[in-house]
Amino acid sequence: MKVTPWEVEGSVDYDKLIKEFGTQKIDDRLISRIRKHSKELHMFLRRGFYFSHRDLNLVLDDYDKGKGFFLYTGRKPSGPLHIGHLTPMLFTKWLQDVYDVNLYIEITDDEKFVFDRNTDWKQIDAWAEDNIKDIAALGFDPDRTFIFKDREYVRHVYPLILDVARRVTFSTVKAVFGFTSESNIGQIFYPAYQMIPTMLEKKRCLIPCALDQDPYFRVQRDVAEAVGYNKTSVIHSKFLPPLQGVQGKMSASMVDTAMWLTDDEKTVKKKVNKYAFSGGQATVEEHRKKGGNPDIDVPFQWLKILFEPDDKKLKKIEDDYRSGALLTGELKAILIDKVNKFLEEHRKKKEKVDIEKFMKTGKLAQKMWETYYE
Ligand code: TYM
Repeated sequence: MKVTPWEVEGSVDYDKLIKEFGTQKIDDRLISRIRKHSKELHMFLRRGFYFSHRDLNLVLDDYDKGKGFFLYTGRKPSGPLHIGHLTPMLFTKWLQDVYDVNLYIEITDDEKFVFDRNTDWKQIDAWAEDNIKDIAALGFDPDRTFIFKDREYVRHVYPLILDVARRVTFSTVKAVFGFTSESNIGQIFYPAYQMIPTMLEKKRCLIPCALDQDPYFRVQRDVAEAVGYNKTSVIHSKFLPPLQGVQGKMSASMVDTAMWLTDDEKTVKKKVNKYAFSGGQATVEEHRKKGGNPDIDVPFQWLKILFEPDDKKLKKIEDDYRSGALLTGELKAILIDKVNKFLEEHRKKKEKVDIEKFMKTGKLAQKMWETYYE
């Protein structure tokens, strides 16, 4: 098993990762604290998709004391979004609704540029605009949300980036990110920028993301206090799996087995029917007799993680699949219908969205230089 910000290899063992990364499990006490603040717990928390954290308890303490906190997450504009990329955004939106807090979304055009020698700014800008539309369409609060592209915002944060950069050695980033003597110096410098949005306010920052992004924030936590800011808190999810198996990470390199927000109805149907790993039996007779295994069945897991929020409905699907009453083809049909409705709805919202509302250099954009130079 290998998990870095750039690749996930082998089958992922989440308990082992918590130990290796040195993070904490989200336990029942934390869950019940969040339940007190929200009317209904998000399905990502109810079903253990968000499962790990750093200092989430301190964020909740600050909230309870009236100090508040802010949210930060991000996206590298490297192509269309897949449904895995959407999960941190959906969860962040829920947290913003529950806690009514400011949110910063970093669009890392610089990261894409230095990590992909085959791209150019024109292509990156086109993807950035498209990705920002997808993100903004999720309905964040425009008065409390600031989305920025790194190379446009950099003039405001460069002093702070340098303040962080001069405290992080090459040997640290080599150990944390696996850089080598062949890595270009843009790559080696880039992590300094991904740490900066945690310092846009003097309050505590909470970052929702999948576990692959954690290494950046481990380094942030080593230097933040020296620069005059809080160690960031993080809340981590597991990976939404690709169609070929529940133990992997859906990633942009998996053209056929990722599900893109741009996939049309026919493509969704074809992909699920052709590629989705099934926990069902080889023949209908055998399936009716022995039943299927939802734990390894990708269509069931996608329903559980993202597409069936109703616990009762999900339980019935699970029970029927285990007993053999529900066939693999029928389970796939349920998923195809849900995915298509979800994507259709999303594309309608995307058409109407006004991204300028989220990108203007307003009050939120100014926070940083107020706090850094004060
Ligand atoms: P990027 O663009 O690769 O991914 C964006 C977000 O999607 C999450 N993610 C997934 N979540 C669940 N299941 C998956 N299969 C899956 N694949 C990706 C990632 O964890 C990420 O949260 N360097 C970052 C951009 C960034 C960022 C941040 C991300 C800048 N600042 C702060 C999170 C938080 C990147 O390349 O993300």
